[in-house]
Amino acid sequence: MNKFEQLADELAEQIHKGILAPGERITSVRAMARETGLSINTVINAYELLERKGLLASRPQSGFYVLGYPYAKQIQTLAETSVIPVDIKTLDLLGLLIDNSKDESLVHFGTAYLAPSLYPTTQINQLTRHVLRDSPETISSYELSPGNFEYRRQISRQLSHMGCKVLPEEILATNGATEAVSLALRVTCKPGDIVVTESPLFFGTLQAMEGLGLSVIEIPSYPSTGIDLEMLEVVLKKHKVSAVVLMPNFSNPLGSAMSDTDKETLVAILNRYNVPAIEDDIYGEIYFHGQRPKPLKAFDEMGSIITCSSFSKTVSPGLRIGWIAPGKYYPEIRRLQLSTTMAAGTLSQKVMAQYLLSKQYEKGLMSLRLHCSIHAHKMAQRVLNHFPDNTRISLPQGGCVLWVEMPKGIDTVELYRKAISKNITFSPGILFSATGQYRNFLRLNCGIVWSSKIEQGLKTLGNIAKNNNLRG
Ligand SMILES: Cc1ncc(COP(=O)(O)O)c(C=O)c1O
Repeated sequence: MNKFEQLADELAEQIHKGILAPGERITSVRAMARETGLSINTVINAYELLERKGLLASRPQSGFYVLGYPYAKQIQTLAETSVIPVDIKTLDLLGLLIDNSKDESLVHFGTAYLAPSLYPTTQINQLTRHVLRDSPETISSYELSPGNFEYRRQISRQLSHMGCKVLPEEILATNGATEAVSLALRVTCKPGDIVVTESPLFFGTLQAMEGLGLSVIEIPSYPSTGIDLEMLEVVLKKHKVSAVVLMPNFSNPLGSAMSDTDKETLVAILNRYNVPAIEDDIYGEIYFHGQRPKPLKAFDEMGSIITCSSFSKTVSPGLRIGWIAPGKYYPEIRRLQLSTTMAAGTLSQKVMAQYLLSKQYEKGLMSLRLHCSIHAHKMAQRVLNHFPDNTRISLPQGGCVLWVEMPKGIDTVELYRKAISKNITFSPGILFSATGQYRNFLRLNCGIVWSSKIEQGLKTLGNIAKNNNLRG
């Protein structure tokens, strides 16, 4: 082992043991070189190795920060595959969660909304003024489906950096990822059809499927590597499935990421059974280490992958601007969009096109990635400190949420009722399944700005879980 590998190994052990805590700034390169008697280059090599491994993150002009999770605490429990398709019935609780999200007096861990200060609001407002000044007709014109060409050209350019050959002519602007996923579901499925989803799955998508009268088969997703491909093949062999719905990059709520090899295998399986996939890539840019993971689309040769995304988690939720690359379903998607929403907002498309052209976009992403990574690690640590013994956590590799498994017997719907009386919200696990799974799970939002209120909120939540009988 080289000297720098030895130092990296020692530091990695300290991170795993919690001696160096997530979020903490590590000794500067110079000080470490002095302390250890190693050269500055050796220390830099060690830190960079740890950065590649996702255990440290560098912040320009500020130094290296500790990332890293206690791996021994990773969730082990997998979803049960539903043997038969079930009708989807989401809980009324969801409405309550959304209503509560507007109450500023609450400590919000419930919705996966990023704190307003994490968005480039000043730059977007400035660009908006420029667009309105340079083309005042923006306000008085439609930018009908498929949408503004420059906006679609920018998306195409970005996709090409991720290994996807998608022309601007193959992309449509949408009102957020929500419209994109809804269009994709409506074009591939009709009421009564069966969809296969990874489990757990984002409740918004479950709700969209419920609204279309679809039945679902849930397939377990591994906390680190995503959907169980063997199980998927078993199900596709047995059932006539209209679409597979999943988030290969940083699923909400698991934060798992499929490897390129698994993505390639998945696409091959889908092609074998002639089933399209709807991928929601909304968190793809918020990776905690390494490089931007490829979307499934990068492995699609048959046009059967429908990629949906938006800028709600990276630039602005208020612009309501997203996109869809629907492959061979383009004509049907366009027809459906023209007869439903017709278009995304003209101003939003133009502003976003300008922003994607600017250097600010990548700069903003860099600080958002670091922020979400540090906060996910910090929150994981607090959860393990304050929540009941035997609590387990996902080890998200990207995105902005943490998935938590409490000991069996703790009903997180009951916990929610108690927590809201103490002004704290979170998402109970049961919202993430159509088959009533995850009663003892919950999802926490890490896209927050740390404060004493957050710190106290996590402590209080843990105390409620420890000190109350929460059997449903
Ligand atoms: C996985 C996932 N998809 C879609 C959305 C909604 O995205 P948009 O605001 O682009 O409609 C969210 C928002 O929380 C989400 O978490």
